[in-house]
Amino acid sequence: MDINKLDEFAKKMIFEAGKRIREAFSYDLVVETKSGANDLVTNIDRETELFFIEKIKASFPQHKILGEEGMGEDVKSLEGPVWIIDPIDGTMNFVKQHRHFMITIGFFVDGVGKLGYIFDVMREDLFHAIEGQGAWYNDSPLRQLQPVPLEEAVIGINATWVTPNRLVNHEKMTELVHTIRGTRSYGSAAMEIAYVVSGKLDAYISMRLAPWDIGGGTIIAKEVGAITTNLKGEDCNLLSKDTFIIANPSIHHRILNEYIEEK
Ligand code: IPD
Ligand code: CA
Ligand code: CA
Repeated sequence: MDINKLDEFAKKMIFEAGKRIREAFSYDLVVETKSGANDLVTNIDRETELFFIEKIKASFPQHKILGEEGMGEDVKSLEGPVWIIDPIDGTMNFVKQHRHFMITIGFFVDGVGKLGYIFDVMREDLFHAIEGQGAWYNDSPLRQLQPVPLEEAVIGINATWVTPNRLVNHEKMTELVHTIRGTRSYGSAAMEIAYVVSGKLDAYISMRLAPWDIGGGTIIAKEVGAITTNLKGEDCNLLSKDTFIIANPSIHHRILNEYIEEK
């Protein structure tokens, strides 16, 4: 398998999907809820996932596909070539703001990340990586992350976790927020990951993400030296939902050890 040719294939497919999504705003979105009132899906999420599946299967029928909307197969292992796809990450932003949503895709072989993509559809900005070759923001190489003191860090975090909740000690989280320089919350996990790998954020923490939210991002992270783990500090599991942190290596350990106390 020529990984650079596969990268060209993936980029072309992503740009084409992005164009279709931008055009979709000229006709009506059909919005439905999934697990709850805040878990949205639209006809465009489903159509985009199907678009990717058809493109990949037409050229690589033996590749497995794990997609958020469940239109690929029921992937139970990462053996062989596997695509992990979130057709629209940030569906609430997509529906409400018509911006700040991403296509994100990871390509793995036997569980090893080979190609990672996060595409900001409205800005037409691509963050991507090829294992061992580096990472890019559009055509510019992304640099290795430089150390940052925790006190100067800007961290992506959802306000829910600094209020009483059932997953994490919110008082410790509040301490973290008071220690650092600032927080941001963009409403798309992939966007927050893209901002960490490009140094616009220094970390991003979430209590529950799915493999398709983080798959592509973990591959880009590795190329710039960002650390991705669950909140216990273990490797990310790409077959089930889990907690998640991506951080500049200089602050990852300190955040987990001093400020995260899971219940
Ligand atoms: C969601 C977004 C959101 C995160 C949620 C995800 P979706 O993905 O990434 O920022 O907080 O946990 O489920 O549903 O818009 O693809
Ligand atoms: Ca998502
Ligand atoms: Ca999604």
